Amino acid sequence: MSTLIKSLAGLGLGAALTLTAGTAMAAGGHGCGTFTNAEGVEEHLACSTAPIDFTNKGSLQNGAKIFMNYCAGCHSAKYVRHSRIAKDLEIPPELVEKYLMVTTDQIGDHITAEIDPEIQASWFGAAPPDLSLETRLRGDDWVYTYLLSFYEDPSRPWGANNLVLANAAMPHVLHNMQEELSQEEFESEVGDLVNFMAWMGEPARHDRQVIGFFVILFLLVLLIPVYLLNKEFWKDVK
Ligand code: HEC
Repeated sequence: MSTLIKSLAGLGLGAALTLTAGTAMAAGGHGCGTFTNAEGVEEHLACSTAPIDFTNKGSLQNGAKIFMNYCAGCHSAKYVRHSRIAKDLEIPPELVEKYLMVTTDQIGDHITAEIDPEIQASWFGAAPPDLSLETRLRGDDWVYTYLLSFYEDPSRPWGANNLVLANAAMPHVLHNMQEELSQEEFESEVGDLVNFMAWMGEPARHDRQVIGFFVILFLLVLLIPVYLLNKEFWKDVK
């Protein structure tokens, strides 16, 4: 089945479909929060659109690398196994073991946080939530905008605040990356990260959209003989 899907996706029809499902559920249509600007006026923050593309394996692989290196220290992703990352993202298992398995040595294990979230709750004031389904909960665009919206704020314990999640307990962990890269490059890295997080949330999302398209297409095509048959059956009765 999966080879069928792959070859169907290869026809390029996948691209048209990715447009449909993703955007609809973004942040439940509530935008990405409000904040008070320098003049004391309340402003509405629009969500930026996350570049989700499950066919771009390079992007997913880069996202996995960033997630394991920058996020898995604090956050778990308890529904995702390392072996599934190897399989779906087409990374040789040896490389996953060498570079991505930072919190375990068993490739069949789920992604656990390096530091117990309970302990972290006492450090940060809030436990880092499990991120397996984060993009399903908040929407891809919310997560993308959140990660791009950290700013310096000396009044906060870690010197950073967030426009989307005011007074977030999470430090700006991508600060060094943001400093080193241009804005465009930084957005592209965060885009890869969110693409990976969206994959974690629903690995079959792309396949589902492709299958959905062909199911509808099949039903539409089926309509033609069914309509003709209907005419044929009823022609003497009427
Ligand atoms: C130093 C520990 C730490 C690291 C590293 C870290 N986080 Fe967090 N994160 C937190 C904490 C603590 C919270 C809870 C924030 C709150 O509720 O105020 C959080 C919250 C979040 C949330 C918001 C959850 C929600 O729905 O409210 C997202 C999304 C998130 N983190 C993503 C990431 C990503 C992606 C990375 C890697 C780039 C990362 N975090 C790295 C500690 C961390």
